[in-house]
Amino acid sequence: MNTIAGLRAVLDERRRGGASVALVPTMGALHDGHLALVRRARELADVVVVSIFVNPLQFGPTEDLDRYPRTLEADVAALSGLGVDVVFAPDVAEMYPDGSAAGTKVTAGPVGGRYEGAHRPGHFDGMLTVVAKLFSIAQPDVAVFGQKDAQQVFLVTRMVADLDLRLRIEVVPTVREADGLALSSRNRFLDGRERVAALVLAESLDAARTSAADGASELLAEGVAAFGDHDGVDLDYFVVVDPATFLPVDEEFRGRALVLVAARVGTTRLIDNAFVEIGADAGADAGPDARAELPPSPAE
Ligand code: PAJ
Repeated sequence: MNTIAGLRAVLDERRRGGASVALVPTMGALHDGHLALVRRARELADVVVVSIFVNPLQFGPTEDLDRYPRTLEADVAALSGLGVDVVFAPDVAEMYPDGSAAGTKVTAGPVGGRYEGAHRPGHFDGMLTVVAKLFSIAQPDVAVFGQKDAQQVFLVTRMVADLDLRLRIEVVPTVREADGLALSSRNRFLDGRERVAALVLAESLDAARTSAADGASELLAEGVAAFGDHDGVDLDYFVVVDPATFLPVDEEFRGRALVLVAARVGTTRLIDNAFVEIGADAGADAGPDARAELPPSPAE
């Protein structure tokens, strides 16, 4: 299915019969992470729609839009047997008939300019715009997203709340390779040596998790230290945020936090994240002067 009118006709018909609709937005090059979202969608609604659209609006001029993998035939094969009702795979002209540059866009709030947004200007506005279009086209009861793209989940959830969109967002945990590397459509660009080096992202999150009991500064120090001896890996950011606000935590923060990491491995940019519990015993054995020795927390 590749037209908006065609998809709407199918879904209107099903909805008239009382069916609920789940949408799984993707850019294709499907892997087991995407398929986990599809399986979850299958559990949540009567009709499952998977969209496959490499959205030019969310790629910067120097980014990998042209080399982004497009594997529609293999994607459709991967989805067979999962109970998907419709694969919606429009072309760019169908989604942006007048070109993408001239039209109305959704603008992310201030969090959209941080982390991924700081490294990829305009990325989140482009992402939110296409997601809003897909929501409007499919009018799903629920849309399923992956925790792998944590900031995307935060911003989509905010958009749904801020614009009073009538659907629920369901989040599926990150699917990983056996050695811990988060599945990504971009992993296919890694050569053998880079594939090994890419493990540093998951390792840095493990280091962060194990030092979280000692507080945010210790966690950051241990996480960043994991990148110390990896040639060919350039760390873009390593931050700890409050999941409720997506703003960096300060040294006093206690409780559930989210660690975000992004790095370039060769020419491939990878992201990952993990929840950590910043411990109640953090700073317990620190004397009155200990705080003065800590690096300034991001909020200061
Ligand atoms: P894409 O990168 O294709 O990802 C589609 C969905 O799959 C996203 O919700 C993403 O978080 C999820 N996903 C990717 N890797 C995953 C993994 N290892 N485990 C669990 N989920 C994973 O994200 C996009 O496309 C686009 O920005 C999109 C939302 C489709 C808008 O264009």
